[in-house]
Amino acid sequence: MEIQTLLMILIGLHVLPGVFWVGSTFVLARLGGVGAEKFTIPQLIAAGVVFITGMSLWSQTHPLSAGFGPAEQVLATGAICALGAAGVQSLFVLPAVRTLVMAGGGTTGGAARTRIAVAESVAATLLAITVVCMVIARYV
Ligand code: HEM
Repeated sequence: MEIQTLLMILIGLHVLPGVFWVGSTFVLARLGGVGAEKFTIPQLIAAGVVFITGMSLWSQTHPLSAGFGPAEQVLATGAICALGAAGVQSLFVLPAVRTLVMAGGGTTGGAARTRIAVAESVAATLLAITVVCMVIARYV
């Protein structure tokens, strides 16, 4: 397969789940965590695909031999923020979602729902930084 074709496939498989992940995180933050029961597992799967395709893109477009210049530093900042968002969603949202599911669901949920809302706001902020880093990296 030609490298150009591979890059087009990888960028498609990178950006599409990325848009889902970021978009749904913003919506969950805005809705105070309502709907997190349906979205958290798909979001974490999307995060995994974004990470794998992101690292594959990195290996093809920014080989280690080319050094760690401004573009790589900006990309790395974005990647670290994305990993932080995935960490927040795994460590705070997922357990709170389990609590809500075991309690029988509903759109309220007291402390667990509040924890989700705060965690999604933190994740959304981190992912906003990621998106900006991803799209400016090639111009720095
Ligand atoms: C672990 C996290 C991530 C890693 C390691 C990563 C890595 C990369 C790499 C290496 C590129 C190619 C840059 C280039 O061609 O010079 C890229 C592009 C891109 N990434 Fe990510 N990325 C991550 C997360 C995300 C997320 C969460 C989004 C959200 C939508 C995203 C959106 C994009 C976009 C839109 C581009 C295309 C930028 C352009 O061509 O102008 N990335 N990413």
